Amino acid sequence: MGDTLTLALGVLTVGAVGLGAWRRWHPASFWYGVGFPSRAALVYLTWRHVASGCGLTRHRRRWRWTLDAVPIVGPAARGAATVVEQKRRVRRVDVERAPRLGVLRPTRLGWRMRVRLHDGQVPADYERAAEGIAHAWRVHSVRVVDVRPGVVTLWATMRDPLTTVTVTPETGELLTVRPGKLENGADWVINLRTVPHWLIAGATQSGKSNLANAVIKGLAPQPVALVGFDLKGGVEFTPYAPRLSALATTRAECVALLGDLVAELEERMVLCREAGARNVWTLPEGLRPVPVVLLVDEVAELFLMADKSEKDQVAKTATALLRVAQLGRAFGVHLIVCGQRIGSDLGPGVTALRAQLSGRVCHRVNDPETASMTLGDLNPAALEAARAIPAETPGVCVTAGQDGTWHRARSVYVSEAQAEQAARDHAHLTPDWSAVVGSAPVTRPAVPEAA
Ligand SMILES: Nc1ncnc2c1ncn2[C@@H]1O[C@H](COP(=O)(O)OP(=O)(O)OP(=O)(O)O)[C@@H](O)[C@H]1O
Ligand SMILES: [Mg+2]
Repeated sequence: MGDTLTLALGVLTVGAVGLGAWRRWHPASFWYGVGFPSRAALVYLTWRHVASGCGLTRHRRRWRWTLDAVPIVGPAARGAATVVEQKRRVRRVDVERAPRLGVLRPTRLGWRMRVRLHDGQVPADYERAAEGIAHAWRVHSVRVVDVRPGVVTLWATMRDPLTTVTVTPETGELLTVRPGKLENGADWVINLRTVPHWLIAGATQSGKSNLANAVIKGLAPQPVALVGFDLKGGVEFTPYAPRLSALATTRAECVALLGDLVAELEERMVLCREAGARNVWTLPEGLRPVPVVLLVDEVAELFLMADKSEKDQVAKTATALLRVAQLGRAFGVHLIVCGQRIGSDLGPGVTALRAQLSGRVCHRVNDPETASMTLGDLNPAALEAARAIPAETPGVCVTAGQDGTWHRARSVYVSEAQAEQAARDHAHLTPDWSAVVGSAPVTRPAVPEAA
């Protein structure tokens, strides 16, 4: 007896140690081999309760065999026993039905599964319930993705994949960068050819410049012209000057550069028309002008007016930026605009500009209005996610593309030194501004001596 107990204890200990070691040394296979199957069993076994707790069940009347226990007070009941007579019969009863679950499919960080909606349910019901489901399953988050008629897919992630992000921004594909990771574990990819202009919003110290660094590092090895607008006295972009074809640090320089760009866009228009092309991408390769990516660090500075005399300049800047945005998408000029907020209070033309910036990135913001201003009237859950970004995790953001989908994401940390190094390493790829706009240079940043 004692021996058997010792043996059992020994086997259990060895098993536990083995599992622990497996989990420690090869977490991926442990997850697929042990973690996921046990989680899946738990999810199926508890789904009725979870769905009921989260208000997703429906009551149905069903015919059921029931076992009725009818207490009968027997003749000798005076003192004690009641007799229970049991009757089986079929009758209609109320039953609670949970939505039907599909097959649980493992992902690297959790699992996804389809759920069939009950009649009358909408995906928003599941979005509302998602937090409750996440707590019930003891996972980091549950998200509703991939909505089809009558079916939603729930995506559960066990832990926040955004605590550490390690990717390289360089993709090797023209006008495409990989600035970080998405919450679902996939790479976050910004492709300027599908979404030409981006608005990057966030409170101070939320990670806007870091994202700009990642974009610069990703674009530096590519045959593109980078242009910087940095009205914070040039402190942000001057270190990257070796890779910038032009850099404006005052409003006058911005106006001049934008004037150049608008003229260049008009030339590209003529070029395309003559070649019978709708945009620069359908031009023959030899004729295709170099793509331009214009980075604006703090857009509010462009619109700020200290006195009336600046009104003209501001109006010119606003009009030119808007034109660049409108025409740029077809003619290879892309805008990446960073700002703490970009609302109509900055001045006329700002709302129109914002409407052109179809790619959106919302970092931590100070007020809910900025989140909804940045993300538009997207899914309320996206706004909620943006508002919930804590200050301790700079670089975490909610990103939305043109197609209405949104993701929580985090940019990879790219220090100024790294971006500066990339700018220096690829300085030889910098097209001359005069070659880009086919005119005399306006501002060609001086390459620092140290380079
Ligand atoms: N993805 C990230 N991972 C880790 N740290 C980050 C990340 N993004 C930013 N940080 C850190 O957060 C700090 C603030 O970031 P950043 O300068 O990009 O903010 P910002 O939004 O540009 O602020 P400001 O409006 O003041 O210019 C930086 O010191 C940087 O080290
Ligand atoms: Mg900044």
